[in-house]
Amino acid sequence: MTHISVKVDGTTYEDDVEPRLLLAHYLRDRLGLTGTPIGCDTSNCGACTVDLDGATVKSCSVLAVQADGCEVTTIQGLARDGEWTALQRAFHEKHGLQCGYCTPGMIMAARDLLRENPHPSPDEVRKALEGNLCRCTGYQNIVRAVLAASGQQDASGHQVSEGVTA
Ligand code: FES
Ligand code: FES
Repeated sequence: MTHISVKVDGTTYEDDVEPRLLLAHYLRDRLGLTGTPIGCDTSNCGACTVDLDGATVKSCSVLAVQADGCEVTTIQGLARDGEWTALQRAFHEKHGLQCGYCTPGMIMAARDLLRENPHPSPDEVRKALEGNLCRCTGYQNIVRAVLAASGQQDASGHQVSEGVTA
């Protein structure tokens, strides 16, 4: 066992973990943060995406011990006082999800994009989300949601939101 101290969604946890334990499993099974789903366990789908000290990572490709001393933000740490972020609202308003399984990862990846590039083009949104797979939506509304959160129209001129940040 290895001792780790990790701050997750604002709360610091001290735990003894097996060195082979994946961060995704630590979040879900040890901390009960099941808002971060596991879609493949092989770094392909992006469902498990979280923020690790400011870097967007697939938590199934990171060991829990690698998060020792770090700060992790999951989808469950985004809302403030019960209020969704603008990006979360945009996914809701633009119907950027169906089953919702990919949505936490999509939002975490899109959040990272908008931090780096507040006004991405549709192609830049698609490029940023290429590591996140959705089995339901056909992606169009996901792209629309991200553009809406950045206050932009998509290529087909769909309505824009008021222009908000992630
Ligand atoms: S569960 Fe991590 S990338 Fe699919
Ligand atoms: S909404 Fe179902 S997998 Fe994306």
